[in-house]
Amino acid sequence: MTRADLSKRATEVAGMFTGVARGYDRTNAVLSAGNAALWRVATVRAVKPLAGERILDVAAGTGTSSAALARTGATVVAADFSPGMIAEGRRRHPELDFVEADAEALPFDDDSFDAVAISFGLRNIEHPLVALGEFHRVLKPGGRLVVCEFSTPPVLLLRVGYGLYLRRVLPVVARLISSNPAAYAYLRESIQSWPDQAALAGWLRGAGFSRVGWRDLTFGVVALHRGRKPLARSSRAATARRRATRPAAAERTEASAPNTPSTATTS
Ligand SMILES: C[S@@+](CC[C@H](N)C(=O)[O-])C[C@H]1O[C@@H](n2cnc3c(N)ncnc32)[C@H](O)[C@@H]1O
Repeated sequence: MTRADLSKRATEVAGMFTGVARGYDRTNAVLSAGNAALWRVATVRAVKPLAGERILDVAAGTGTSSAALARTGATVVAADFSPGMIAEGRRRHPELDFVEADAEALPFDDDSFDAVAISFGLRNIEHPLVALGEFHRVLKPGGRLVVCEFSTPPVLLLRVGYGLYLRRVLPVVARLISSNPAAYAYLRESIQSWPDQAALAGWLRGAGFSRVGWRDLTFGVVALHRGRKPLARSSRAATARRRATRPAAAERTEASAPNTPSTATTS
């Protein structure tokens, strides 16, 4: 069975998720000791969807995160690039609109969504800064971004305990219940090499989001980051400022920096 490594090549990541699609939600519930459901509730509250709004759930997987958003009466588009996850999602949630799409090149118009949400997806994207740029592009001015992702518990003792859980407990449980335990070795590596709360907030600001902040869930095992696409005038000014201070080529190089452990904090 396939597993991705920290280079997060798109074909490997998509293939790995296709391989675990069937048992994905059950394994999640067990490994998170039931907390996954609470994290979803917190994510929906952070997005604050209104009936009639158009919301994009990126890296939607089997659609569990999208279904929670759709229950509020908003119109939700569930986008993912793993055919296996989408097939499982369509089977479970025929009511949802699934689109096979790469977060780094979204097939949607500029300024077309009221909110973009991504749950446990950004960490798996090969070039997360490019994806953040895409989220900014497809959001309407004033639109909200919410990122729910594993993070770094700020208290040392908890950080050490969580590290032990990831190294010692998670592999054993994954061997018992998952069809592809190797995929969960990737999960541990990708969590431990993911930027901490402050660093991720910096990425959001760098992508042009304003009013950036975060809230720790389960003592910082997960963090909910939020940001806004500035309203039109300030957005145009920010884009002009970015263009004036950085040559286009340098901007592209930075934006496409791969998702490498060099940005890591330990957990
Ligand atoms: C851990 S699952 C999260 C699924 C769902 N959001 C949830 O909370 O259960 C991560 C998902 O990210 C998707 N993914 C990773 N990189 C992607 C990319 N570049 N574009 C679209 N989806 C991507 C994978 O296919 C996988 O379904």
